[in-house]
Amino acid sequence: MRRKIVAANWKMNMSLYETENFWKVFDTEISESTNIEIVIAPPFTALYKLSELTAKSQKVRLGAQNMHFEKSGAYTGEISATMLRELFVRYVILGHSERRQHFGETNELINKKVLAALASQLRVILCVGETLAEREAGKEKEVVEKQLRGCLKGVKPEQFDDIVIAYEPVWAIGTGRNATPEQAQDCHSAVREFLSELAGKEIAQRVRIQYGGSVNPSNAPQLLEKPDIDGALVGGASLDPRNFALIVRAAESTQSS
Ligand code: 13P
Repeated sequence: MRRKIVAANWKMNMSLYETENFWKVFDTEISESTNIEIVIAPPFTALYKLSELTAKSQKVRLGAQNMHFEKSGAYTGEISATMLRELFVRYVILGHSERRQHFGETNELINKKVLAALASQLRVILCVGETLAEREAGKEKEVVEKQLRGCLKGVKPEQFDDIVIAYEPVWAIGTGRNATPEQAQDCHSAVREFLSELAGKEIAQRVRIQYGGSVNPSNAPQLLEKPDIDGALVGGASLDPRNFALIVRAAESTQSS
């Protein structure tokens, strides 16, 4: 049984004031004894604040949206895994399509980050997904396989338990056009097949695969009930504590015991 994982990717949104307001509402919306895992990845500037706010309740794990692969050094503007660990960060999102697209991140670079994060006991949410042109050309699985193979090079089978894959078709991100549950399930099961090749069937069965791309409270229940959809990585809808809580509840109600 895989425990569902719902993560908020706030991207470059949310001031400290907005973070506090979000938490006041979200904290009351979610139950103490949730049967799923909840992660919030705020911008770096709100990590410390959110770490303080969430420390008491322990309902939520902290995530970062990026990191550098070196531990320290002359890398102006960058943040290391060690620095994130100091703030009690448990997860780091790597390989997001916005980082690939706007900041030129390649599979090789992402691979270095994945290995560095795992070496520092950070869990990785690794994003993969095809563009619209790639889907229209029928190449989505080929693209995703290449990303997985490139980004996970050198990861030892036992380290796969610290990896979550987020399948995020680029054409569904921030567009209001989500993949249908069938399209998503089809790619998720292909991802699991590739993981079997990389780490063996038994381990691949344990790896959680999130769907991301225009997830909202209305489409979440249908997506999350698919057998290989083990959670969601939520952008826009995660900025509203009530909407995000509704998505968490959809995951809770589809969690098998
Ligand atoms: P949206 O939910 O805004 O489409 O963003 C998805 C995403 O990129 C999460 O990482």
